[in-house]
Parts: sequence; C-alpha cells; structure tokens
Amino acid sequence: MMTDRKFAIVTTIAAVAALAAAGSVRAGGDKIMFPAEYAKGTVYLTLDRPENKQVREYYTSQAAIDAAKKGAPLPTGTVITVVQYAAQLDAQGNPAKDANGRFIKTNTIQGYTVMEKQAGWGSEYPESKRNGEWEYQVFRADKTPNTNANLDSCFNCHKPQFSNDFVYTYDKMKVAAR
Ligand code: HEC
Repeated sequence: MMTDRKFAIVTTIAAVAALAAAGSVRAGGDKIMFPAEYAKGTVYLTLDRPENKQVREYYTSQAAIDAAKKGAPLPTGTVITVVQYAAQLDAQGNPAKDANGRFIKTNTIQGYTVMEKQAGWGSEYPESKRNGEWEYQVFRADKTPNTNANLDSCFNCHKPQFSNDFVYTYDKMKVAAR
C-alpha cells in the first residue's frame, strides 16, 4: 500500500517534469528568432506612419519577391521584417518632411514586427485561427520578443489576406525593383 502510493507520487512528479519539459518547446511566436540577417534582404516598401510618427521599412528576401512577381505563394523560410524607425520631428513635434513630402527616418529603431513561414508551422491551430504556415512576432528595440504583443490579433487581421498568402503588401512585392 505504502509502496503503491510512493510509486504514484513518483510517477506524478515524473509526469509534471515531462509536462514542464514539453512547455519549454517553442510555441507560437516564440518559434521566430530575431531576424538578425534582415538587412541582407530587400526593402520592397517604405511607409510613413503619421499616427506613430514612424517610418517603416519592409524587408524580405529576393526569393519571396520573385515568387510574388509570379503570383505564387511565398517560399518556405520566408521572413518579412517591418523595421520601425522614429521619424525626425520639427519644432512643433510633428514629423518633418523631405522635398518629396516624405517623412525622414532617424537612426532610432523603435521595434520590429515579423512574420515567418516554415514547413508545418500552424498545424496545431484550429482552421479559424491558422494563417497557413505563418507565425508572427514583435521584437523590441533591443531585439528581444515584446511579450506584451497580442499575437492572436496578428492572425485575426491577416487572415482575410489568405488569397495573397496572408500578406497585405503582396502586391507591393510584385512591383518591387529587382
Ligand atoms: C488591424 C489589422 C492588423 C493587425 C492587428 C496586424 N496587422 Fe500586420 N499588417 C496589417 C496591414 C494593413 C499591413 C499592410 C501594411 C501596413 O499598414 O503596415 C500589415 C503588414 C504587416 C507585415 C508586412 C507583411 C504584410 O503582410 O504586408 C508584417 C510583417 C506584419 N503586418 C506583422 C504583424 C504582426 C506581427 C502583428 C501582430 C502583432 C500584426 N501584423 C497585426 C494589418 C494588421
């Protein structure tokens, strides 16, 4: 009797340990590592964001741009990185503009939003959430994940773009310079 209980406790401890180990397997946005090589890709779009006083640069690989130009889904391994620069401000605190009326970026990066596509990613999600094989993550200026980000919101808002491989700026990739 005593031995049985001991055994039960030991197996419970083992089960809890196994669960804890399973918990350390990367899930969701934690699968995305900071895209340290993003600057080796192409800037296919630059947007001024008045509401954040930012200039955002959209980076991806040439392979992704080539696929979009063919109207094809983006290749496995595609990473899209949006780099958020603080805009230069005028004396009134509004974004200053260059001769073309565009914002001027400073050297201050305020954060990064990233989406990455890898084989098999997303298979654990219900169809109502899943965005193909994409995962989403937000990184702070120091390149660590922003744990306050609501990653479900990324899935919800990008889902209607399914016919463009969940990418809003797919058409901008199509017209990106080579
Ligand atoms: C309310 C809708 C909405 C939400 C929520 C949203 N996005 Fe987006 N996302 C957009 C739109 C619209 C664009 C197109 C360009 C732009 O406005 O930045 C975009 C563009 C992007 C891009 C560039 C590739 C593309 O699809 O054009 C990335 C990367 C991205 N978002 C990541 C994220 C991440 C990460 C999250 C969650 C933290 C997120 N988005 C949440 C609407 C959304």
